[in-house]
Amino acid sequence: MKNSETLTLLDIFQEQPGQYLSGEEISKRLSISRTAVWKQINKLREAGYEFEAVSRLGYRLLEKPLPLDSAWISAHAEGRSFGKTIELLNTTTSTQEDARRLAEAGAPEGTVVLAEEQTGGRGRMGKKFFSPFGKGIWMSILLRPKQPLHLTQQLTLLTGVAVRRAILKTTGVEAGIKWPNDLLIDGKKICGILLESATEDDMVRYCIAGIGISVNLKEEDYPEELRSIATSLRIVNGQNVDRNELICSILNEMETLYELYNEQGFESIAALWESASVTMNREVSVHSPRGILTGTAAGLHSSGALLVRNADGELVPVFSGDIRIESANETR
Ligand code: BTN
Repeated sequence: MKNSETLTLLDIFQEQPGQYLSGEEISKRLSISRTAVWKQINKLREAGYEFEAVSRLGYRLLEKPLPLDSAWISAHAEGRSFGKTIELLNTTTSTQEDARRLAEAGAPEGTVVLAEEQTGGRGRMGKKFFSPFGKGIWMSILLRPKQPLHLTQQLTLLTGVAVRRAILKTTGVEAGIKWPNDLLIDGKKICGILLESATEDDMVRYCIAGIGISVNLKEEDYPEELRSIATSLRIVNGQNVDRNELICSILNEMETLYELYNEQGFESIAALWESASVTMNREVSVHSPRGILTGTAAGLHSSGALLVRNADGELVPVFSGDIRIESANETR
């Protein structure tokens, strides 16, 4: 048994699973003040532990976080390269930056960077991406496709299809894809994808597919401004999801689709994307620095751009921008 100097708050709860422990009792055992006990409980809460607090009874440990486990993921990834090399970080600014560093140092295709938390997670168009500790999947995958830069949009769509399939297989939850990179459930965002590339003479040197999935966040974990637009697998499904299993499944789906893409081209991926999309055949407005375009989302261009039929009946390819879905198109 540990002595009072090496004993931690977690040890005390683990000695008596499921029991309520009063602040006074804990403070005596650890020889610290009641305020220090409360501070430690809050610190553990931030790290993903769940405590119930009941007056006159004390605290009870309800849930421990299941940490990311790179060895388990590598061992269970079924493919040849995706997830065989993993850098796992407790905290980082952005896994995109770490993956870029590894790419420049010559890391092989399929190398993965994972973090429990990002302090500077980023999304498309300079937006911040909320990435709290222990609750989500914040992951970057290194790709080395042999193709010109203008085709990389296709890989964003491929990544969306892979993540959607993995979520469906692992949890039974069916997400829809909003062009180009958001996965939605009941209109709320559950996953964002950011594809960044390094080029030479317009050819891709490497791409980094950044994937951010809200897995085990609860309503109260979100800042106020995100609550009406974001959701998590836990909120939708009512139970925690094993992040290691979901990551493994994403890597398997990614490798399978990436091989299909390299062997057969974008067409097969485009068909999968169109059948999973919530954008297709909807009235949309596209917001970009060039202005606002409204029309009906009619399909994908061979480059991966979204084709929007405008009021004059012309098909306009959209390469970037923020898409807002206005309404269902009754006429189709
Ligand atoms: C978006 O929604 O606009 C894209 C979000 C992409 C977030 C992921 S989380 C892992 C990787 N690291 C980042 O900083 N961003 C991507």
